[in-house]
Amino acid sequence: MTNTKIAIVAGGTSGVGKRTAIDLAKKQVHVIIIGSNSQKGETALQEIKAEAPTAEVEFIQADLSRRQNINQLATQLSQRIDHIDILVTTMGGLFNHYQETADQLDLNIVINYWAHYWLITALEPLLTAAPQSRVLVVGALPTIVNHITPHLPELHPKVQDYNSNRVSTDTLLARVLMVRGLADHWQNSTITVNLFHPGNVPDSSYGAESNLWFKALGQILARFSTKNSNVGSRLALEPAFAKQSGSFYDDKARLVPWNKKYTLALAQQLLAASA
Ligand SMILES: NC(=O)c1ccc[n+]([C@@H]2O[C@H](COP(=O)([O-])OP(=O)(O)OC[C@H]3O[C@@H](n4cnc5c(N)ncnc54)[C@H](OP(=O)(O)O)[C@@H]3O)[C@@H](O)[C@H]2O)c1
Repeated sequence: MTNTKIAIVAGGTSGVGKRTAIDLAKKQVHVIIIGSNSQKGETALQEIKAEAPTAEVEFIQADLSRRQNINQLATQLSQRIDHIDILVTTMGGLFNHYQETADQLDLNIVINYWAHYWLITALEPLLTAAPQSRVLVVGALPTIVNHITPHLPELHPKVQDYNSNRVSTDTLLARVLMVRGLADHWQNSTITVNLFHPGNVPDSSYGAESNLWFKALGQILARFSTKNSNVGSRLALEPAFAKQSGSFYDDKARLVPWNKKYTLALAQQLLAASA
């Protein structure tokens, strides 16, 4: 094993993921970015290489909306690398209307929750193969994360009266509970898993098809966040964060206390339903 750390950034072709990939590459981490759009991926690759010319950076095209693609990706990765030090899952999307994936699942739920869960669990063997590995899952502003009414997220929404904002909130809560549940599950392992608020990354395609009201809200919320924060790479690399697991960090890498109602019991219920 060389000293160069290996990071997988799922959703690394734009927005939060690309920002994190650039910051990691600048620290000489070997970065592999994943996205479904080849052209976007190649453009992002050139951009990251321009910012970090001496780093090893690769792009792998994979549509993470299908579990079988995720399993194939895990196999492909295990043929290329023997461990993963850092896994960052930032893929996301906000689709106003109900859209089905090839597996007849709701696209909003798949991209914002299932793909994170499937990918993290599929890559567990490679994460375990590193001396110490860190998984970072994208969250949102602490005031949003901690003000969702605690409940078991609805992972099979009704097509009638479809409300994409409600579904999006449920998937954020699902990621919160997943982080808490996986941290507990891995408490005696060498894998840590944490949620982070990425700050304000303006170079994003998230919510591109949303209405003006949503975009205006996004601009207001952005004022409360650090622009192009390097929080992802700090949490991935700094020794101070090596052992902490099951936590939530803001865009300045400060610990944010969880809403106490996001209990471990609720997290375990979600993981049992997800498995
Ligand atoms: N941007 C911000 O300031 C900000 C602030 C707080 C929270 N967040 C959260 O961060 C998350 C990501 O937002 P973002 O701004 O980074 O969005 P973004 O710019 O749209 O990036 C989304 C990433 O997900 C990938 N992706 C989407 N569908 C995919 C699929 N089927 N298969 C593989 N990859 C897929 C995209 O790649 P392809 O298009 O190539 O598939 C892209 O790399 C969201 O949950 C958002 O709420 C963002």
